[in-house]
Amino acid sequence: MNEGALTVRIHVVENYPELSLRAAGIVASQVILKEDTVLGLATGSTPEEMYRELAQLHREGKVDFSRVTTFNLDEYRGLDPGHPQSYHYYMRQHFFDHVNIKPENIHIPPGQGADIPTICQDYEQQIAAAGGIDLQVLGIGVNGHIGFNEPGSHLQTETHLVDLTAETIKANSRFFSTPKEVPRQAITMGMGSIMQARRILLLASGKSKSAAIRDTLGGRVTTAVPASFLQLHRRVILLLDREAAALL
Ligand code: F6R
Repeated sequence: MNEGALTVRIHVVENYPELSLRAAGIVASQVILKEDTVLGLATGSTPEEMYRELAQLHREGKVDFSRVTTFNLDEYRGLDPGHPQSYHYYMRQHFFDHVNIKPENIHIPPGQGADIPTICQDYEQQIAAAGGIDLQVLGIGVNGHIGFNEPGSHLQTETHLVDLTAETIKANSRFFSTPKEVPRQAITMGMGSIMQARRILLLASGKSKSAAIRDTLGGRVTTAVPASFLQLHRRVILLLDREAAALL
């Protein structure tokens, strides 16, 4: 494993269930230590089980989310919050409906609305007004994207509208009945918004993520692998299962 000059802490666990338990433990500890925690949250298949574990911890009376504020990373452009593939829907289904988080403390970029610059600026202002993100949970795309900050010649710092790459559209088409239905654009927090979080927890599971994880930690920071920027953050934990860590 190349741990050279890394500031990133790497934890490798056996499999996905273990990863989910461990991730839920880290998020729960954060909320227990600071009841008014501001969480940055991700969607996708990777954190699904973590949300289930957190809901279970809440049911058991072990974590109270009543003072927690959340900001989601991203939302597809063009899907209304009731659309089953929207990230608004996902978050209700997997997490918010199962814990005592206050609706007014939940923030997800709106998928609809014409005035994109204002939508993006408002989101940044809301994060700032909440005092910034204490713990940002991230997944990672097979192409190394985080949020929907896609590989390219440049990366944007703040919340913005993004064109999804063909690779991401293909990867996400598994959630839609046909690839044609996958939205082509999304609103995502930018790299700067993500990097400002006080702590970052990135989760990766499965073989398909192993190359992206290798490149994330490759010692080079490049817009071709947005996650490689995490090497510049001082408090990152990479929580991987054996398959995702296979190329380290
Ligand atoms: C989702 C998000 C994306 C996903 C990534 C991995 O809010 O920001 O960056 O984390 O596409 O998705 P899964 O976990 O489905 O492999």
